[in-house]
Amino acid sequence: MNQKEISQEEFIEALCNLHKGLPRGGPGSDDYTRQALSRLKGLPASPRVLDLGCGPGKQTLVLAEELGVPIKAVDFYRPFLDTLEADAQERGLAELVRAELGDMLQLEYAPASWDLIWCEGAIFIPGFANGLKMWRPWLAPGGYVAVTECSWLKPNPPQEVAQFWEQLYPEIGQIQDCLGVIRSAGYEVVDHFTMAPSAWWDNYIGPLSAHMDELAKTGGIDPAMELVMEQCRHETDIYRKYHEWYGYVFYLMRAK
Ligand SMILES: C[S@@+](CC[C@H](N)C(=O)[O-])C[C@H]1O[C@@H](n2cnc3c(N)ncnc32)[C@H](O)[C@@H]1O
Repeated sequence: MNQKEISQEEFIEALCNLHKGLPRGGPGSDDYTRQALSRLKGLPASPRVLDLGCGPGKQTLVLAEELGVPIKAVDFYRPFLDTLEADAQERGLAELVRAELGDMLQLEYAPASWDLIWCEGAIFIPGFANGLKMWRPWLAPGGYVAVTECSWLKPNPPQEVAQFWEQLYPEIGQIQDCLGVIRSAGYEVVDHFTMAPSAWWDNYIGPLSAHMDELAKTGGIDPAMELVMEQCRHETDIYRKYHEWYGYVFYLMRAK
């Protein structure tokens, strides 16, 4: 298939469509969300919380449950927000979950609007350094940011996986580099930890692969979806082969 025939919009639409109905949009787990939150000591009693690129919002629900305060959850794909709202309703959290359709690259907030900015699996959209820089003025003094970002876990990765990431997200860095970026963007590092491969297999790659197998059986897949599925399968193969080399890291930081 010729990739040029498919526009960026069609590709993104197909990518979102493929993930519709899946539990998560990327690696992670409720336990990891809770673990990260528990490491943020000294949040105000009623923090103002923003969850960017929330997707179907598994982490939004955990934040609402644990903190008992409203969580503004932003995503640019309406069906994910519908899932989040339905799940919030079911779990008695509808009052706390404020799902908002929006482009995280176009948001504008007054200085010091938020006490906590959460972003699981979506800071790559503005880019790690750019996102942290953009959000910094929105934080109240001492406000927190919690993000997950794919990072190299060891230096000198084999050529195949190095090339794969060079094409997909050249900003991927070693953990130490990311900690440096955090400090340069005006934060102190609070903590960081790497999520186990189970956060990929159980909650992301597993359900996604099963869904792709089902779709492949039904046929009638349009070229954009075919391309998206091809790329997702390639990403899965690369992860299976090279998961010791890279992984998702939770980075926790506080405005200096
Ligand atoms: C990898 S998924 C992560 C979703 C969720 N946080 C999770 O961990 O399950 C990235 C999310 O970012 C959303 N997204 C991508 N570009 C966006 C943009 N420009 N503005 C808002 N949301 C965006 C996608 O719709 C998707 O839900």
